Amino acid sequence: MTKIIAQLVLSRAAAAILAAAAFASSAGAADLSHGEKLWRKCVSCHTLEPDGRNKVGPRLYGLFGRAAGSVPDYLYTDELKASGIVWNEKTLDAFLHDSEAMVPGTKMYGGLSQAEDRSDLIAFLKQATTGAASSGSGR
Ligand code: HEC
Repeated sequence: MTKIIAQLVLSRAAAAILAAAAFASSAGAADLSHGEKLWRKCVSCHTLEPDGRNKVGPRLYGLFGRAAGSVPDYLYTDELKASGIVWNEKTLDAFLHDSEAMVPGTKMYGGLSQAEDRSDLIAFLKQATTGAASSGSGR
């Protein structure tokens, strides 16, 4: 099952890895393993897998390029749905810095104050939300 999905997303995943690598170098060597550690702050509320379920927050698979508030079976705040945000490195950086400042009224918690933490986490998310990082994969 996971294998089939992995094959289906392979070309997207490959593109994402290249993009993540480019992002990493432009951001000054994002540390993916550090990003993965920071992800632990999010796991109580989010999943990354294609068939991941919604928890307190929506599943994040396919996040990059997705409009905010667009997972169909998740109940978002009207504020996030109406925000007009499309998720990319820039918008995620702002949201993860201070979600309430970016989207007043969102039910997502505060943020990460360190820019480096955010860029590492975003680099990790970019890889993981395309299915490129199967759990436990080393490099
Ligand atoms: C305590 C639960 C909780 C934690 C922890 C949490 N989130 Fe969220 N997150 C939410 C909720 C709830 C929403 C939906 C917000 C809304 O509808 O306003 C959300 C929304 C989001 C969205 C927008 C998704 C979309 O489909 O538009 C992103 C991106 C996101 N979270 C990333 C993260 C990341 C990365 C972390 C870890 C640093 C994290 N979240 C930690 C609860 C959480």
